[in-house]
Amino acid sequence: MALVRMRNTQGANATEIEKKIKRGNALRQSSTWRGSRGSVALLLVALSVCLAAVGLYLTSLDGEITETLVSQSELVTPKPRVFTVQCSEDYENYKRYPGCTPQKCGRAVTDSVVTRDEAEVLRRLAERGLELAGSEGGASILDLHSGALSMGKQFVNIYRYFGDQIRDVFSQEDFQLYRDVRGRIQAVIAETFDLDPTRMYLTKPTFFSRINGTTAKTQHDEYWHPHIDKVTYGSFDYTSLLYLSDYGSDFTGGRFVFMDQNENRTVEPRAGRVSFFTSGSENLHRVEKVTWGTRYAITVSFTCDPAHAISDPSLP
Ligand SMILES: *[C@@H]1O[C@H](CO)[C@@H](O)[C@H](O)[C@H]1NC(C)=O
Ligand SMILES: *[C@@H]1O[C@H](CO)[C@@H](O)[C@H](O)[C@H]1NC(C)=O
Repeated sequence: MALVRMRNTQGANATEIEKKIKRGNALRQSSTWRGSRGSVALLLVALSVCLAAVGLYLTSLDGEITETLVSQSELVTPKPRVFTVQCSEDYENYKRYPGCTPQKCGRAVTDSVVTRDEAEVLRRLAERGLELAGSEGGASILDLHSGALSMGKQFVNIYRYFGDQIRDVFSQEDFQLYRDVRGRIQAVIAETFDLDPTRMYLTKPTFFSRINGTTAKTQHDEYWHPHIDKVTYGSFDYTSLLYLSDYGSDFTGGRFVFMDQNENRTVEPRAGRVSFFTSGSENLHRVEKVTWGTRYAITVSFTCDPAHAISDPSLP
């Protein structure tokens, strides 16, 4: 009996064990299902994290810009848009020139000093001049004052190199327009910063620039490093830029960036747009690398020190 009972219990036990095993299998099956649902969810989460990271990376390419002071599509007219910043101590290390040394500092942008037609004439002038040579590294300059023109890894003097033939490239009218435009820029800077325009002088370097996305070959081609004009060129007190092409349609990248303590503030180039600022540390800046197309601009610099004055260019 005992044996039979035992066998019976064993039988019962066996069926119960079978049931348990079956239940276990069922449980295991559902948990595999739950498990795979879990991994699908995990995969989705991972995927969205990846997408978010890519998105963040893409915006971070642009994300260094924290504020757009003036976009390409805006038209700043008739008055310049002025952004005041506190003057740095740089000016204290230099002789002060009444009527010129900055008393107030800042940056400003105007689209009403140079017309788009004038900008086009000047861009053509730049194209013709720079066509004569150009840097190998994608950043070329033409300085009509000194005659310096990028050529390969160096510079040549266009007036010496091309002699009278330069008259086939530039006309008197071109030079007249150039002088005229620099006078207007000087006037708007003086008005904006309450200066005496007769006490500010054009200084060097003042030049045309042509930039494209070609890899830099020499240091001259590396225009994108952050810098302070007054530190780089002691004579500068006011820097201005006249843009000759449009950000977005003529080129991409190449925006001008003021690098402030907690913000990167950009001015988007627009043909005919003049952007100007005091040259001290209050205006640390850089130009983004050009990623596509060609960017033309003119840098026009002013000093308060008559010893650093240069004269307007004229055809030989
Ligand atoms: C970029 O400029 C360099 C010279 O500075 C020139 O050799 C090159 O052809 C230009 N590239 C384009 C795409 O215009
Ligand atoms: C400004 O841009 C620079 C690089 O150009 C970057 O290192 C810095 O973090 C940016 N600053 C801000 C506040 O985004």
